[in-house]
Amino acid sequence: MLIFFSNKPYYAIVNDAVEASKEFKKGALVNAVLRKVLQDKDNIKFGKYIYPEFKKVLDKIFSSKSIREYIYQTLFEKPINYQVSLVDKEDAIYEKRVFLLKKKLKSNCFVQDIGNFEIIRSTKSFYHDSDILDICAAPGGKSILLQSYGFKVSAIDKSQIQINKFYENLRRLNLKINIKKIDFLKEKFLDKYNSILLDAPCSALGTFKRNPDVTTKVDQAQIKKHQKTQIEILEKSLKILKKNGFLIYVVCSFHPFETIDVIDKISQKHNNIKIHSINSEKMIKRKNGYFINPLKFKNTGGSDVFFVSVLEKK
Ligand SMILES: C[S@@+](CC[C@H](N)C(=O)[O-])C[C@H]1O[C@@H](n2cnc3c(N)ncnc32)[C@H](O)[C@@H]1O
Repeated sequence: MLIFFSNKPYYAIVNDAVEASKEFKKGALVNAVLRKVLQDKDNIKFGKYIYPEFKKVLDKIFSSKSIREYIYQTLFEKPINYQVSLVDKEDAIYEKRVFLLKKKLKSNCFVQDIGNFEIIRSTKSFYHDSDILDICAAPGGKSILLQSYGFKVSAIDKSQIQINKFYENLRRLNLKINIKKIDFLKEKFLDKYNSILLDAPCSALGTFKRNPDVTTKVDQAQIKKHQKTQIEILEKSLKILKKNGFLIYVVCSFHPFETIDVIDKISQKHNNIKIHSINSEKMIKRKNGYFINPLKFKNTGGSDVFFVSVLEKK
């Protein structure tokens, strides 16, 4: 089924699968089966089977029946792709910035989910100075958007591959952002910051429309590992956050371990953390933060699910 949802061309997926199965001497069989599937692709109908673990977790967060029904009805529909403009445009479909990505990417636009856009749009007023440290920044979607709103972003990421994608984006958009290849957990910081964005590494469960395979990978042990990293990065970020500074914690996941529980564990340990309310009718409020509500984007083709929590260090 995943062959139909991937952004890769069919021939590349078939080649990869054939190569991988050669190890088990099943290359010819896999080749024959996949080619037959592709021949019949117009007649294939996807069922509505949803992996129980995925459903259990999603049901826990989205207690509203109408939201759940919308998510499940559209789970196996191809996602809508968006492009976000660096400048306000009256003809945009949302907040003067978001356009549908049909065939052509416009010159000063970059591809980004509408939910991701909403996270930045609805939290940018919390950063009370113009310099922002973006700790897990590559490939730069959020940094670029923040810069387009007038902030000066210092970006950090530990992955050279992701940083290369970030540079590619900057080159195409003719922008400059200072990027440092750093493992945040290993680096010693002398400076303190007023404004930090932490878009932490996660299970990416919230990207189920563009990555349908995540629906089959709700693995508690793996997600606990993500939680451990998220807490470590968050702890260290709080150390370099100035008093009265703001830290915005984001993940593209709705799993409680990576969202509500991370903030619970942090607030239990630190009694100087205040969690702020966000003013967005596109999100639902839960303990410790907010989740993007895809139903609110129904008329524009839905969205990924993100979690965001706004923390102030008192
Ligand atoms: C969710 S992605 C960030 C997406 C990015 N903020 C955007 O909007 O395009 C998480 C990023 O965290 C980076 N990362 C994970 N652990 C890190 C660490 N210890 N130090 C720095 N970067 C890290 C990964 O390389 C990955 O690029």
